Amino acid sequence: MSTAVAHPNIALIKYWGKRDEDLILPCTGSLSLTLDVFPTTTTLTADADAAADAITFDGAVATGSAARRITAFLDLVRAQAGITARARVDTRNSVPTGAGLASSASGFAALAVAAADAYGLALDERDLSRLARRGSGSACRSVISGTAVWYAGTDDATSFAEPVAGPALGMVIAVVDAGTKAVSSREAMRRTRDTSPYADAWATATAADLDEMLAAFGRADVTAIGELTESNALRMHAAIMASRPPIRYLTPQSIALFDAAAALRADGLDAWATADAGPNVVLLCRDGDVAAVRDALRERTGLPADRLIAAHAGPGARLVPAS
Ligand code: DP6
Repeated sequence: MSTAVAHPNIALIKYWGKRDEDLILPCTGSLSLTLDVFPTTTTLTADADAAADAITFDGAVATGSAARRITAFLDLVRAQAGITARARVDTRNSVPTGAGLASSASGFAALAVAAADAYGLALDERDLSRLARRGSGSACRSVISGTAVWYAGTDDATSFAEPVAGPALGMVIAVVDAGTKAVSSREAMRRTRDTSPYADAWATATAADLDEMLAAFGRADVTAIGELTESNALRMHAAIMASRPPIRYLTPQSIALFDAAAALRADGLDAWATADAGPNVVLLCRDGDVAAVRDALRERTGLPADRLIAAHAGPGARLVPAS
């Protein structure tokens, strides 16, 4: 029996688009902050007598595409290990029910670490990151603690995440909508690639944004990091919105939070907005400013305290020692 825990990450430079759907090789590299909130804990036990994988999420039996995706992932691990035994997988998310923040990144990062251990694969951080990538692209970054860069690479061996040194950053997550998203990021990425006239421009611009971001990390230039973060997120949403049929994740309330970030900056409090494939907005700031940004945001938006979540840099995916 092996248990692992992993946390979600939020990208400052976004991953949006695959050049290989099977290996999950991204069109461009990306950069993120692994958080210290909402861990996923996964326990996996290999069971040579079982006919199929038995998977539960928060105690409920997983079926359909969610279960198939996990079995397909475990098949990769089993093939690498040369073991056919099925598994019992129990996954627990600490996200408040219905907060709309459950993350495939923390899920597959925890699963990769637990499965590698249970099936006897001795993998280093880089190889665990490559493995987690096969479950969900962004999961490769949740293997790494704090800020991580995911290199696009050219093949399975060269597409992995590793730590990147820089200033201490924090985030405030503004929960706009607790519901599940209308179009999954997997499907929306495909539609952007196939129908958005801006897909190529997005990839070209993001490769340049990542180079600039890495330089900004090297100089610990928080202002440049924040400005690139906000701009890269809006570029991603612009490319997504231009798909046909259109996909629009940002709601009026999301846009109002981008405006709130600008207003905070005008008041002398540095914070920059970003958003993934959904309406929730995350404000990036200096680690020491998290509480002040949360208070200011609460005052300005009237969002209740439980919808403004303070987060700091968190640990990479790791095994939990058996007690
Ligand atoms: C908007 O990693 O969920 O959060 O590889 O298809 O599983 P798949 O996609 P996923 O996409 C994340 C998209 C994003 C941006 C990011 O995290 O970089």
